[in-house]
Amino acid sequence: MTKDKSTDFVLQACDVSKHYRTTAGEVRAVKEVNLRIREGEFVAIMGPSGSGKTTLLSMLGALESPTEGEVLLQGRDLGRLRSRELAMLRRFQLGFIFQSFYLVDHLTAFENIRFPLGFNVKMEPGERDDRAVRLLGMVGLADRSDHFPRQLSGGEQQRVAIARAMANEPAVILADEPTGNLDQRSGNEIMDALEDLNQRLKQTLVVVTHDEQVARRARRLVLLEDGQVMEDRDLVTDAADMNMER
Ligand SMILES: Nc1ncnc2c1ncn2[C@@H]1O[C@H](COP(=O)(O)OP(=O)(O)O)[C@@H](O)[C@H]1O
Ligand SMILES: [Mg+2]
Repeated sequence: MTKDKSTDFVLQACDVSKHYRTTAGEVRAVKEVNLRIREGEFVAIMGPSGSGKTTLLSMLGALESPTEGEVLLQGRDLGRLRSRELAMLRRFQLGFIFQSFYLVDHLTAFENIRFPLGFNVKMEPGERDDRAVRLLGMVGLADRSDHFPRQLSGGEQQRVAIARAMANEPAVILADEPTGNLDQRSGNEIMDALEDLNQRLKQTLVVVTHDEQVARRARRLVLLEDGQVMEDRDLVTDAADMNMER
């Protein structure tokens, strides 16, 4: 796929491969993947365990660099950036949500969300506090501000993680099995919160999941198998087609 330096696409993977050298030989985790994601899209990535979902997401989020190919964020080739610039991108342009919440145990819900705002030199300390309060409200946890992670349910902890990922208004939120450790009800809560961000704030979302219920909420489904894209399907048109057939 030719790369498009314009910012029509917020995120692009162009012929991206990732190979790992292990004692048992070379593992080709991701093979020549092409993906273009527009601003405001909600993309689900599915596939069997070991199909390369986490590896792909890590490359899209500048946490790992491809062995071959290029990843472009807002038209900028990540492979050409200095480590300092990459650190800034990770801090301000990308939001991460993982299966394990990785909240800081000794910080309250408020403080966990406030923490990444501390890097934001464009904000006055007072503004940071206000924003952290607003983010807590946005994920429905205004009354849990002073709770430590251990005093929150799994679903609540994950909602704190979502608010934290949102803190610096990133261009893209990348989530790796965000409901993986949660019961159905908490999982639904998380997906409601993410769907709301996408619909109301046009937040671009890429969510890796093995749960069909979760994937069904997306507008687009990318199916990985053995490191390759087997299918890239527009779920909105599919749903419209189904209605036509009825
Ligand atoms: N750091 C690594 N070193 C060696 N092999 C790895 C590493 N990370 C992932 N792999 C291998 O790459 C493949 C894809 O892994 P992964 O991206 O985690 O898949 P998924 O998230 O779809 O379960 C697997 O075969 C896995 O064992
Ligand atoms: Mg994984």
